[in-house]
Amino acid sequence: MQKTDTDTSSSVSRDDCFLGDHEAPHSKLSFFVTKIVKPFLSILLVGGVYFAITATWFYQQQSAKKSYSTTISATTLHHNLILDTNDHLTKSVVTREVSPYGYHLTAYPSTGIEPIDNYIKQRISLIDTSSRLPSYTYLYNDSAQIYSSELHSTLVYRDQTSLSITLRSYGTNFLYNNHYANSDYVEYFTFDTQSGQRISTNSLFDTLSAGMDDLVKVVRLVLKNKYSVSEDKLQQQITPMTLHNFIVKDRHTIGFIFDKKALGIGLSGDVSVTVPIKNFSHYLQNQTARRFFSIPPLDAHTARLRSTKQLCQRCIALTFDDGPGQYTDTLLSTLQNHEAKATFFVIGKNIRRFNSTLQRATQEGHQIGNHTWNHPELPKLNPDQIRKEIQQTSDMIAATTGTPPTIVRPPYGAVDDKVYNELRTMSLSAILWSIDTRDWANRDSSIVCQRAVASAQPGAIILMHDIHRTTVEAVPCILSTLHKQGYQFVTINNLLRQPLQPGIGYFKK
Ligand code: NI
Repeated sequence: MQKTDTDTSSSVSRDDCFLGDHEAPHSKLSFFVTKIVKPFLSILLVGGVYFAITATWFYQQQSAKKSYSTTISATTLHHNLILDTNDHLTKSVVTREVSPYGYHLTAYPSTGIEPIDNYIKQRISLIDTSSRLPSYTYLYNDSAQIYSSELHSTLVYRDQTSLSITLRSYGTNFLYNNHYANSDYVEYFTFDTQSGQRISTNSLFDTLSAGMDDLVKVVRLVLKNKYSVSEDKLQQQITPMTLHNFIVKDRHTIGFIFDKKALGIGLSGDVSVTVPIKNFSHYLQNQTARRFFSIPPLDAHTARLRSTKQLCQRCIALTFDDGPGQYTDTLLSTLQNHEAKATFFVIGKNIRRFNSTLQRATQEGHQIGNHTWNHPELPKLNPDQIRKEIQQTSDMIAATTGTPPTIVRPPYGAVDDKVYNELRTMSLSAILWSIDTRDWANRDSSIVCQRAVASAQPGAIILMHDIHRTTVEAVPCILSTLHKQGYQFVTINNLLRQPLQPGIGYFKK
């Protein structure tokens, strides 16, 4: 009875089976196989397949990650990422990241210098979020499309002291209707290979920011002549700000890269402009500049004020260029109130209109210097033109004040051997400056005052322009603040206190 009932009383018997030991072994085994082992095996099979699928997926994920996060040779990398092959940059670290739109791969060039690699990595991550992904996202939401982009890292230069690198991202968004948009992007950096620090263009020029202004002019000129970039675009795109990074081409050449689209000369790609260092070497005298470039020694015609004897421990020469002008009389009254003396580098063609102002300046003990007739860049002129620009102005100053000038300030501080030779024949010395207030750039008297005061030091020559109302309004603040610090204000002749040699340029570092 128990045998036949096996199937129908399974639920009860199973309880017996587990709860008691009294039943026959043979019937118990058969029951166990059909009711317990078979279902268990099925469960095990389904679970096993599920587990295998999961494990395979997991393994794939892991191995995918593994194969892309190791350091591999750039030459073996064939993907939508291309690293330019270069002797100095043969390794790249490629990572695969998941974004809402799928995988994207990023290659990080490896220079072997940790701070540099970290900096570049950070910049690349910014390129991704600021230029690539947003365009992707926007277009993705709009329509079906394929997005492709490449990131090129190029090592432009590397030696014992410096390393320059460019990062270019070429992105193309293909839309379903065959319209596409480029999203090119270029950045470039130079690093100090010893410290790993990024070096800005500004740091090459020290306090003589006139060097930066000159650099802007030269770069604009190259772009204008070589690529016919419009004046508008040049003013807009080529500024001290946009030249804040540079590349080293070799130890004699500095370079900059610009986006063609931004310059209005193309739809994609970029152009590079290189400038010989020797054109700026008189500005590039600090240690940073000398580290990265071969700076010729200051030529025999240029002397530094460091070696000159000064009249007083805390003397400063305020110099005003480009006048005389409509605000110069107000300035003279301010100087009189503070018993301060200054030096005016006047433009020849302005003198006739303000000749009484110039006479007053002379009578009140200020020094008058020559700032040429038309304010040209003297190195660009031939010797005859240089002489004419300067002699005509000296004659006009002599006719107005009774005394010919002995000093010249070359417009833009631009001076070379040719100019120095002409100055020597006319018995004139060149006076540059040590503090540039950039008062023409910021027509704000509080900024101008702050700049002059912040950089003031004994023996300083401060550059300002009395043709700006805001500059003239800044002078009371400069005089009273520096006077409290014990400074006296003297003319160039009294600051230098030595017979100036003709054909020599003076400035203080
Ligand atoms: Ni000037």
